[in-house]
Amino acid sequence: MDQNKEILRRDVLKIRNCIEEEERIEKSRRIFNTLIGLNEFKNSASVMCYIDFKGEVITRDIIDLCFSLNKKLCVPVISNNQNGARQIIASVLKDPESELYRGNFGIMEPKDEYIRVFEPVEIDLVIVPGVVFDEKRNRIGFGAGFYDRFLKKVRNDCFKIGLAYEFQVVKSVPADKFDIPMDLIITEKRRI
Ligand SMILES: Nc1ncnc2c1ncn2[C@@H]1O[C@H](COP(=O)(O)OP(=O)(O)O)[C@@H](O)[C@H]1O
Ligand SMILES: [Mg+2]
Repeated sequence: MDQNKEILRRDVLKIRNCIEEEERIEKSRRIFNTLIGLNEFKNSASVMCYIDFKGEVITRDIIDLCFSLNKKLCVPVISNNQNGARQIIASVLKDPESELYRGNFGIMEPKDEYIRVFEPVEIDLVIVPGVVFDEKRNRIGFGAGFYDRFLKKVRNDCFKIGLAYEFQVVKSVPADKFDIPMDLIITEKRRI
């Protein structure tokens, strides 16, 4: 495990785990407003979006708007591949009220009977969570490399947006050859 990444993760999570609910809601609202103004969002027919947990940028409004706009909306699910390794797959969500439950790590996921596999090459836009980002749009996640493995399967023109609070963005993070950078990062203060 990369020690430098680990230190950055720990330091940023320490801050994010303590974010006040009011601050989280306000910053998430600003990020939402920026996102929905982007052509990449407006022009996407299929969107994959994480469901926030703990202090992550809130995505509920994004998901609801995708339904209102009749976009195909997928969420990540952790599942086992043929080799028994855990990986992210994209699953089409139709009704957040009835289809989700609290699964792996306490993250909301579709129940088994509502998993509808969606091919990564069909996705136009991916909204990616993260722990630390840098100004070159590199990303550090929770340390399992789940998104690095998933994002190498999407099309070249699939747009990848990381959502983060400004305190999650640092000048530079270590990037390995398998790390997949974002096309855009949105914080409550700016676009990167
Ligand atoms: N595309 C990939 N193929 C094979 N292994 C990968 C790939 N992406 C990541 N990994 C493995 O996952 C581990 C965690 O990746 P890392 O980038 O540190 O996590 P995260 O992106 O969650 O911060 C790495 O040690 C690496 O060996
Ligand atoms: Mg990585």
